[in-house]
Amino acid sequence: MRATAILMSTILVTGGLGYIGSHTVVELQAAGHHVVVVDNLSNTNAEVADRINTITNTPFAFHKLDVCDTEALAQVIQQHEVDGIIHFAAYKAVGESVEQPIKYYQNNINGLISVQDCMKRFDIKNLVFSSSCTVYGDTKESPITEDQPIVQAISPYGTTKIIGEQLLADFAQVTDTRIVSLRYFNPVGAHKTALIGELPLGVPNNLVPYITQTAAGIRKKLTIFGRDYNTPDGTNIRDFIHVVDLAKAHVKAIDFCETNTFGLEVFNIGTGVGHSVLEVVNAFELHNKLQLNYDFGDRRAGDVEQIWADTSKAKSVLGWESELGLEEMMQSAWNWQKQLS
Ligand code: UFG
Repeated sequence: MRATAILMSTILVTGGLGYIGSHTVVELQAAGHHVVVVDNLSNTNAEVADRINTITNTPFAFHKLDVCDTEALAQVIQQHEVDGIIHFAAYKAVGESVEQPIKYYQNNINGLISVQDCMKRFDIKNLVFSSSCTVYGDTKESPITEDQPIVQAISPYGTTKIIGEQLLADFAQVTDTRIVSLRYFNPVGAHKTALIGELPLGVPNNLVPYITQTAAGIRKKLTIFGRDYNTPDGTNIRDFIHVVDLAKAHVKAIDFCETNTFGLEVFNIGTGVGHSVLEVVNAFELHNKLQLNYDFGDRRAGDVEQIWADTSKAKSVLGWESELGLEEMMQSAWNWQKQLS
């Protein structure tokens, strides 16, 4: 009975051709969902749709549109009789958000309001939202649980995630909706086929794309930002999670919506294990059998010293836990980079 219900669901994925979105489309199709993708291609390209098709061999509808265009979004939802939405479409560059805060508030907040508007119009009850561990701010508590207080964010990007969760809490109060907010830790890696992965625009800000571009000779040298932190090797600690594990968490979350009672639920999505930046660099070298050109530099402004997730809620309530380790993360990231360069 339940399996049939899941098979018949049509899930709209906003930002479905992006890094996490594309991996989630693959996993949704593998789980038997019908998928409809909308994406404005601001941070990806249409070829990703073909690559997803090559992996899954299952067609899906794709509409090039901006989620902030509520009328266009409504038309797509009406056309496909959508049962649930996974909302990824948003800007995500922390540094850029500091320089262009209005751009981030306009896009990320309006996009979510547009999605909520459509949920109301078409009586869509299920929503999964992309949030971030950035909502915990400069925390000293790790492993961190979902009930830690939300504090002031370090960047406008982070503030859009905090406001987003607040919008959802208010919306859930007055509607019969089931909403899940997933707070991602540090997504890395790529699909094992190397057909989809992260497409960083310009110079990457994030660690793993910077590592792979350095190994590929696109960047001269990786600089590790700070080695005087109060951690075992002096470098920052993060909870790196394989993007395929993260994608599977979205499938669990949308399935959970179908059976949960009305309201908003928040989950940490990480591995539950912290790794230092230096450990990641060493793992990359070890598992890909190469040497990376790197040195140590000053601390980067705004970096949290160490943070990793307590994932027990995701495990007990969603029935999800990560399966892939640093080896798969580093190998898949490198395989993806090699076919890009
Ligand atoms: N780092 C380097 N050198 C680099 C790039 C990064 O040493 O060239 C270090 C950073 O200092 C940090 C770690 O690698 O210690 C991870 O940095 P990332 O930029 O990859 O990731 P962040 O942890 O800073 O940011 C991530 C997400 C954000 C989210 C944030 C929440 O990318 O979307 O976590 O803490 F907001």
